[in-house]
Amino acid sequence: MKAIQAVQFGAPSVLTVADLPDPAPGPGQITIDVTHAAVGLIDVYLRQGLFKGAPGLPQPPYVPGLEVAGTVRALGEGVTGFAVGEKVVSLSSYGAGGYASVFVTDQERVVSTQDYDIDPALAVAAIPNALMAHIALTRAISMSAGESVLIHGALGGLASAFPGIARQLGASRVVGTVRSGKVAAAAASRLHYDTIVDSAQLPDVLGDEKFDVIVDPVGGLLRTQSLDLLAPSGRLLLVGNASGDWDQGIDGNRIWQGNITVTGFNAGGYVPSHPESVESAAQAALKAVAGGLADIEIETLPLADAATAHERLENHATDGRIVLTVCDAC
Ligand SMILES: NC(=O)c1ccc[n+]([C@@H]2O[C@H](COP(=O)([O-])OP(=O)(O)OC[C@H]3O[C@@H](n4cnc5c(N)ncnc54)[C@H](OP(=O)(O)O)[C@@H]3O)[C@@H](O)[C@H]2O)c1
Repeated sequence: MKAIQAVQFGAPSVLTVADLPDPAPGPGQITIDVTHAAVGLIDVYLRQGLFKGAPGLPQPPYVPGLEVAGTVRALGEGVTGFAVGEKVVSLSSYGAGGYASVFVTDQERVVSTQDYDIDPALAVAAIPNALMAHIALTRAISMSAGESVLIHGALGGLASAFPGIARQLGASRVVGTVRSGKVAAAAASRLHYDTIVDSAQLPDVLGDEKFDVIVDPVGGLLRTQSLDLLAPSGRLLLVGNASGDWDQGIDGNRIWQGNITVTGFNAGGYVPSHPESVESAAQAALKAVAGGLADIEIETLPLADAATAHERLENHATDGRIVLTVCDAC
């Protein structure tokens, strides 16, 4: 198969094209003929070696990429409910292997898109994150219909999945924040925000408005500022740290005195220990994406340009998601 390998930790240039043996599915696994592979900030962190000491994470040489779209190539022993040729997407995991023409994963991490008319680039860009957004909002913080939601880094790959799912769950109001340089892109966004504001103007730009739920994939100063933007008994949902500020902490006494709940949600750790959460979230995500609730910006690049994709993510030169197009002959 054609693949991109990270031959060592380091700059985007460590990503090189390779010809590797096709993987075969083990018991309970599925192989997928990949047409599209999503690129996320987590791929950048892993390539940089940010988590190189963490157990279970890939070591060079490895093929990056957590989420793919394509068709079922072969079924491992004991796999039921899927047919060869069926259109599918895979869910992100701690694993790797997505930047390749053939991908192998556990059956539990595969979602059929066969019954939906969803472009495969949109499918891989939006369905895994929409599914995670659904699990996070329903299970991690038990969002209720009628609640208001604030989403930081509103146009980012993961964040983009939240407004549509929040709408689907009956949010009364959905507001996003972006950095000053992204205000124009925010105005043109087709995502389901009531309004998107400049995070540099917080809190004044929101007047006295407070939120029942705040979704934070950004961290840093925005994270601590968020404590003042929560309504009574509000919940702050931490889902990432795109700011790269690993030192900003939250004062426990503020949480106590403000009756605030702070919850973390990390799909890679949550889904394996809660496999029962996937099925209903997958159905919700498929409906949301097919129904136009996750119309995110998508930039496509050929597989061989994976290093460019990483550079663009690192340089904050993109909104929504970058998707690599994959074919054996490319
Ligand atoms: N919880 C999970 O299961 C899960 C799943 C996927 C990803 N993640 C995590 O979520 C985070 C985002 O990943 P992603 O793939 O969505 O990345 P992304 O597409 O690059 O989006 C990151 C967003 O954060 C914004 N941002 C970055 N630094 C900022 C700062 N200092 N102040 C304000 N906004 C800032 C970016 O805005 P600009 O465009 O202006 O830079 C962008 O909108 C990462 O930490 C990733 O590891 C978690």
